[in-house]
This record gives sequence, C-alpha cells and structure tokens, in this order.
Amino acid sequence: MPAFTATAPGKIILFGEHAVVYGRPAIAVPVNQVSARVVVQADPLAPPGRIWVRAPAVGLDGDLDALPSGHPLRAVKTLLLEHWGLDDLPACRLQISSTIPVAAGLGSGAAVSVACLRALSAFLGRRLDDELASALAYEVEKLLHGTPSGIDNTVVTYAAPVYFMRRPEGPHIETFQVERPFTLLIGDTGVSSPTSVAVGDLRRSWQAEPERYNALFDAVGSLVERARALIESGQPEALGPLMDENHVLLQAMDVSSPELDHLVAAARSAGALGAKLSGGGRGGNMIALVRPEAAGALASALRHAGAEHTIITRVAGKGSG
Ligand code: PMV
Repeated sequence: MPAFTATAPGKIILFGEHAVVYGRPAIAVPVNQVSARVVVQADPLAPPGRIWVRAPAVGLDGDLDALPSGHPLRAVKTLLLEHWGLDDLPACRLQISSTIPVAAGLGSGAAVSVACLRALSAFLGRRLDDELASALAYEVEKLLHGTPSGIDNTVVTYAAPVYFMRRPEGPHIETFQVERPFTLLIGDTGVSSPTSVAVGDLRRSWQAEPERYNALFDAVGSLVERARALIESGQPEALGPLMDENHVLLQAMDVSSPELDHLVAAARSAGALGAKLSGGGRGGNMIALVRPEAAGALASALRHAGAEHTIITRVAGKGSG
C-alpha cells in the first residue's frame, strides 16, 4: 500500500514584530530544522470515508469526524472536499508528527495544516501547488484565529523568507531569495506569554502617545527594508547590528522582559553577531545571528544562561542549499 508523505517547516519572525500591526513591514523566515510530517495511507478494510488520525504528541488516535466541529483537521478535510468537488475522501490513515514546539510563535499549526493538505491531495492523486496550499492553510488559520496575518501559512508553504505588510485592502506578501545562507540560534525563555496581552498593552501606549510610538514603528520599518536588502544581496552577517537595533526598539515599546533581555545579552557575550526577541515578546523566544561553526557552543551558553530549549537553524532559500 503506497504511503503519501508531506512535510512543512516551522517559521520565526526575523524583524518587524509589533510594528507590523501598525502597517510597517516585517520579515519571517522558515525554520527548517523543525517540521511537521504527515503520512497518508489507504485503509481498504475501513468503512468508506473513515479517516483515522494518529497524532501521538497531542494524544489523538481516532476518527477525524469525531473531532469537535471547529478542529483544524476537520477544516482541512472540508476545504479539500470543497476544493476538489468531492463528496467524501477514501478511507485512510493519517499519521501526524511534528518537531515544531507548539504555541511558541514557530508556526506549528500552519505547518501541520500545510503538510496535511499536501499529503491528502497526493493521496487523492491531485496536484496541490504552493499557492493553493498556502491559500487553503490560510482558511484553516482563519477558522482558528479569526484574523490571522497570513504570514505563517506563507512562510511554511514556500519555505522561503517572506516580506509582509498589512494593508487595509488585504496583506501584501512577497517571498524573496536568500543570496547567502545564514545561521540563527533560537532560545526559548520558557516563559509563556500570550501575544494578545503584549499587543493590547502596546495599543494602549500608542493611543496615549501616538507620536512617540509611530516614530518607533517607523524606525523598525526602515530596519526591515535594510535587512531585506542585506539578505537579498548576500551580506547576512551585517544583519547582526540590525537585530540589536530592533531589540532596543522593542524594549522601548515595553514588549521585552528580563528573561528575554538576559538571553539576548548572554548570546551577545558568547559571541553572537546580534540578537533580539522574536514574536510577541514578554516571554517566548529570542533569536541570535551566529557563525555556523560557533552555533553549538553558543547554544550551550544560552542553555547555561537559562534557555529552556534551543534550536539552531540555517536559513537558505529554495535551491540555495
Ligand atoms: O509570536 P508570533 O509569531 O505569533 O508573532 C506575533 C507578532 C506580532 O507582531 C507581535 C503580532 C501580530 O499579529 O503580528
């Protein structure tokens, strides 16, 4: 019985978080060292249409149709049936595994959706191109998060850096190429902090002092433009100082935390080329730009300084290794 396998990587915000909410650009990159993997196999002995889902990491082992109606896997099935104009799927087994930390700003949900959409389409003998995979995964994200930006599904589908800007008429999203690969070290503070709280606090500060905060957002926006140019022109080592500057701006927005500042400082003193918080802040992850040969030692230094987990990831565009 042939098995149909598909994967999708994680993602992390490299520059521009928070300011992106106010219309400035942001850049997110794939995290290829972690991924979601889905394997689909026909189950000819099962009743017609039954999809048995196994996802041991989240305790799932049962019939997909028995999941709650808002479950993302049910949305994946409904969207595929609608898109391909089918009444039902042939009975099959869906095995889901993922090394992407959950609820950590690493795009785990979008990666699982994309991998499921791809594996199930292959099982159906249909070709799902990247544009469609991303669009359908965006629909799943919408069901889960209401108004997602669209950045997660785009980065994990194309496995390429994404330049992103919110616009009143809808998001502007561009993938772009990495001219020379670079290495990031991701460190998890272990402090869980809902993005919505930091976003809400910042909104109140912005309402109280719009000029001050607009200036901070503008400064972030110009860093993002410079960062993109450096990535596209093959000068990634020059991103380090920009990450440091972005972190200072995020501190000024009061979305950092003592734990994040501590790991950022520890990364720099262990030899990172630059470091900043990544994502919602107040907890969660920080990232550092590191020389590949120093990444292992820096990861140990970061864990020694209190990071709960570290991930070393090499950012390379499609085809650039
Ligand atoms: O932690 P993440 O990857 O969910 O990123 C949050 C990014 C913010 O800019 C803080 C919020 C947003 O909606 O863009």
